[in-house]
Amino acid sequence: MSDELNLGLDGVLVTESSLSHVDGETGRLIYRGYAIEDLAREASFEEVLYLLWHGELPDADALSSFEDALADERPIDDDVVETLRALAAADETPMAALRTATSMLSAYEPEHPDPEDLDASLRQGRRITAKMPTILAAYDRLRDGDEPIEPRDDLGHAANFLYMRDGEEPDEVAVETLDQALTLHADHGLNASTFTTVVVSSTLADVYNAITAGIGALAGPLHGGANQDVMDILLEIDDSDLDPREWVEEAIDEGRRIPGFGHRVYQVKDPRALILEERSAELADSTGDDRWYDYAKTIEDYLTDEVGLVEKGIAPNVDFYSGSVYYQLGMPADMYTPIFVMSRVGGWLAHALEYRENNRIIRPRARYVGETDAEFVPIDQR
Ligand code: CMC
Repeated sequence: MSDELNLGLDGVLVTESSLSHVDGETGRLIYRGYAIEDLAREASFEEVLYLLWHGELPDADALSSFEDALADERPIDDDVVETLRALAAADETPMAALRTATSMLSAYEPEHPDPEDLDASLRQGRRITAKMPTILAAYDRLRDGDEPIEPRDDLGHAANFLYMRDGEEPDEVAVETLDQALTLHADHGLNASTFTTVVVSSTLADVYNAITAGIGALAGPLHGGANQDVMDILLEIDDSDLDPREWVEEAIDEGRRIPGFGHRVYQVKDPRALILEERSAELADSTGDDRWYDYAKTIEDYLTDEVGLVEKGIAPNVDFYSGSVYYQLGMPADMYTPIFVMSRVGGWLAHALEYRENNRIIRPRARYVGETDAEFVPIDQR
């Protein structure tokens, strides 16, 4: 047993996986062998979910049954809607509302399988995945004082989410952009939230426990929360008297850490950021408002050319351009991390169930550095 400390489990291998691989040196990401660029361009998010959960790309029949199964599971119980209403009245964030409602879904779960029944666990996870957009769209409407809109079963996952949020048929560019963003975020090796999900599942707790825990881990600003932080800085620049270059100079002088930069695995620009950057630029072109893309690009260029961050291996990650993409689709900044959840739930479930095939409870150790011979003093003598 080694007593060497490894803060942050940097580089530690804890399991084998055939789900996704991040090559941090070349900036390559694959899901089950397929390049992320091909999947983003050619496959729908539903195809990607199928790939992650069933090990292969579906043929047309398999995809159609899979899409129907997901669409059937979209509605949520009225009690969940009422809880969302109460959370909206208390001004809860959408991320916390999604966490609470996801946990609550287990009360309406029709199956309570043996923890070893992986097929039933997969069905439970599929239900959660299908219902998350319904929860999130309902919450965004309720906090604006609008009533939720029932899901439609004739629209895809991304299109139906936009429809339920906005109450109108979404345009094709918005659907394609969101669908692509969902594909790009679906899996990413054993990142912090996926590891959390696997840790919980390794105790043989069910997928509701595991996925709810995953949401908690993704919420933090060092992980999924960074996309909202990036948009917040772009909005801060827009509100300030400084141009983006002056803003980033000042931020660096103050020693601020720029959200959306840096990654434990990537030493180069994240391949997902390259695709999202293109989407952000295209949206800017089509609306004629290039502020959000322009601010982000100016920050990236400054940090690359003047500060040399990229040379040091601190490059834009997936969160750097996703914020400006979602903003241009009309989403408020606090919805970005929950949208990340809507996608990453696919990877969480796949990893939790893959680990279960050869399960061993995850239980590391801490080196004890506290007192060893404390003398107990009764409470009335303290
Ligand atoms: N801006 C400036 N310097 C940075 C940044 C940044 N965004 N990120 C890392 N560094 C520096 C850091 O100061 C440290 O320098 P030094 O060795 O001189 O002290 C070095 O890079 C290593 O940083 P670290 O925090 O030890 O690296 P880590 O692997 O533990 O953390 C990270 C990775 C993603 C948490 C970190 O890069 C970070 O805080 N980035 C900003 C938040 C962010 O964008 N998070 C999203 C990550 S990607 C998507 C996701 O997971 O959801």
